[in-house]
Amino acid sequence: MAITFRTAAVAPGRADVDLLAVPVFAERRLGPGVEAVVPPGVEVLMDRAGFAGKPDETLLLPGAEADAPAVLLIGVGDPAGLDTARVRRVSAAAARRAARAARVGTTLLEAVPAAADRPAAAQALAEGFALGAYRYLAHKSRPEPPAISEVVVLGRGGSRVHAALERGAIVADAVAWARDMVNTPAGEKSPAAFARAAQARLRGRGVRVEVMDPAAIRAARLGGVLGVGQGSRQSPRFVKVTYAPAGARHSLALVGKGVVFDSGGLSLKTASGMETMKTDMSGAAAVVAVMSVLAELGVRQRVVGYVPLVENMPSGSAMRPGDVLRIRNGTTVEVLNTDAEGRLILADALSLAVEDGADAIVDLATLTGACMVALGEQIAGLMGSHDRWRDQVRAAAERAGERVWPLPLPPEYRRQLDSEVADLKNIGGSYGGALTAGLFLREFVGDVPWAHLDIAGPARASGDDGETVKGGTGFGVRTLIELAARFRRP
Ligand code: BES
Ligand code: MN
Ligand code: ZN
Repeated sequence: MAITFRTAAVAPGRADVDLLAVPVFAERRLGPGVEAVVPPGVEVLMDRAGFAGKPDETLLLPGAEADAPAVLLIGVGDPAGLDTARVRRVSAAAARRAARAARVGTTLLEAVPAAADRPAAAQALAEGFALGAYRYLAHKSRPEPPAISEVVVLGRGGSRVHAALERGAIVADAVAWARDMVNTPAGEKSPAAFARAAQARLRGRGVRVEVMDPAAIRAARLGGVLGVGQGSRQSPRFVKVTYAPAGARHSLALVGKGVVFDSGGLSLKTASGMETMKTDMSGAAAVVAVMSVLAELGVRQRVVGYVPLVENMPSGSAMRPGDVLRIRNGTTVEVLNTDAEGRLILADALSLAVEDGADAIVDLATLTGACMVALGEQIAGLMGSHDRWRDQVRAAAERAGERVWPLPLPPEYRRQLDSEVADLKNIGGSYGGALTAGLFLREFVGDVPWAHLDIAGPARASGDDGETVKGGTGFGVRTLIELAARFRRP
């Protein structure tokens, strides 16, 4: 259930809530206003519980008086270190621990340093509470959803804080939609079903949606999408979403990899390699989620989303190693490994974005295991053809609190993609697989500033951590919203 956020300019002791979530700094220093609401002897209780006030620590206590709300101490660490990322993180920790309370009051915002950007902190607070309380329960016979339905931000409010809380709730709702799609079993999200879910999400949200069926995809000569999709009984789709506000001067293209299940095709993955492959549409889910909130967030520039949707399966009709595909822009590709399928469908989508006259492109893709080897499970690889555009994406990720790190596109490695029979082959050598995948994509963007986020690691979490919950994370939604909101033609 979505959480509503409001402000109330009352002392914590006077708030009409079930639980008070209050900050405690490092070395058990109580945050502003906390003294009045905690039970007597709180120092001893913290000591005995081993609660030191570090980030991620929480301690649930009875209220100061018998009929007072319970108190949840939230560790926030060093006061100067309480930046927006930490506000988001500790808010999520609070939401997890407060799961059984319906109405939660918090003084957390009062603890951020005076010099901090208060609206940014308020937005992060809302994102943290909403994302920390996220659960995917669609297939539980006895779902136990968290009770938390309202968060009251206590203290100095103001219209800017109020608007920021609202914004955080909208962003978190987009992330939750993406998480739901990623967590949905592949058997329930064929390309056609994904396209329908996208249409349902986007209806009434100020965008135009076009869905290409297999005949339209063939007519448009999207050879990568057709090739990867031909092995599955579930035929491919291509979703294009256009947001064109009046007065927009520049156009941003968002491209998301939508492989609803990646078995590897005839270059079949191992059993364990397939376990998480329902998540191979995380880029696509993020792009649709972002497109769904641009109007509500008042984004001023034109944004177009390109979402190729396929299932990569082995069968008598599947593409074979050695087959040659012709991508939308005319480039021919020799498919030597059918498991390097993401780049084939992205090639068509990038070609279309260039044809449509995008001023800048960013793609989001669970593209390579090699990127996970390089950067682990929490950090996305950022590559690109244009330094200033790449820096804009990096700055957006920084503001959004999503971890990305630059990787190079070494021209020396480009020849690994030379094919004996076609213009390109779809795999490089044994090493640097994230980079050769990036170099492959680069062949389809021409001179348009382009950035590529390989999200193979952070698209999925193997455990709860901060605002992420085990399973699909919705990684990229926050970054792309920030990017669209402040988009400048590079
Ligand atoms: N979807 C995978 C990449 C992936 C692997 C994402 C593990 C998340 C977790 C992609 O389609 C793939 O299979 N890539 C291959 C490329 C190789 C065949 C060149 C890979 O990384 O092994
Ligand atoms: Mn693959
Ligand atoms: Zn894949």
